[in-house]
Amino acid sequence: MESDATSRDPGGSNPAGVSAQFSPRFSPQFIPLPAGFGVEVSGVDLSRPLSEDEFAVLRRAFFDHQLMVVRHQSLTPLQFSAFAGRFGPPEPHVIDQFHHPLDPDILILSNRREDGKPIGLADGGTYFHTDYSYLDVPARATTLYSVEVPCVGGDTLFADQYAAYDALPEATKRLIEPLLAIHHYGNRQDQNEKSRTVASVLTDEQKAKMPVITHRIARPHPITGRKALYAVSGSSFGIVGMPDDEAVALLDELAAHATQPRFQYSLRYGVGDVVVWDNASLLHAATLTHPDDPRTLWRVTLKERAAPAAAVLAPSFAGAGM
Ligand code: SIN
Repeated sequence: MESDATSRDPGGSNPAGVSAQFSPRFSPQFIPLPAGFGVEVSGVDLSRPLSEDEFAVLRRAFFDHQLMVVRHQSLTPLQFSAFAGRFGPPEPHVIDQFHHPLDPDILILSNRREDGKPIGLADGGTYFHTDYSYLDVPARATTLYSVEVPCVGGDTLFADQYAAYDALPEATKRLIEPLLAIHHYGNRQDQNEKSRTVASVLTDEQKAKMPVITHRIARPHPITGRKALYAVSGSSFGIVGMPDDEAVALLDELAAHATQPRFQYSLRYGVGDVVVWDNASLLHAATLTHPDDPRTLWRVTLKERAAPAAAVLAPSFAGAGM
């Protein structure tokens, strides 16, 4: 488990110690979201650099609640990127044609077109997945800054994978405990490149950069140590040592369990909202919006710090979705 500089506080109140140094502009209030995970934070201005003590308060709330929403911010690309970078090392997406011109760590998600050309990635994963689960060092946190909100829809769905793991029958927990899922960039449930629920389509050059790796299905969270179902929807295409048809049937069964409405929360955006989610304990899915109803977000994705021991190459895998 990675070390966590901050102690944990399961409560929703301000967990700061009395001796911590805070600016008068930092007075966070935490309101848990109704889903059983997630928290909304007010009283924070992310346009100025936070002190170590101030950031520690937000970081702790983030790992306690898995999803953090700070509404009504007004940020430049560099201010957003500086805040995002406090959660870990930024890793630009393999899709490099929509990086922000002022900061390549920012991926522009947008359905807007200018002069007939898209200014961003129109659909950022309209199926349940977790970010960078196709890499040996996956994403710790994904941060979004909402620039433009559509008139209709545009929510992001989240599904709590701690709760999904906890709710499994004990026999299933025992079955999956030793299992390693085989991951590759893509969406197991839809591999038709013309569909909007396929994983964002890569160029041949980008495809050539993508490895095949494994992660535990019952994966201990690298910070909290708590077990979560990991990426059973999305990039998981097989299971080490299991025939493909059996593996896909088991992954599909786990994905159906993990994405039940009882584990979900649908997050609605306002302009200026900053959202941070924990990829090790949540699945998420963008929702389909009308192509003429503009939606624009900036995204920075931060990686975990070290390759987990269970992430090993799976050189013999030659499954579908490559
Ligand atoms: C994402 O999957 O990173 C984007 C989520 C969204 O566009 O709602």
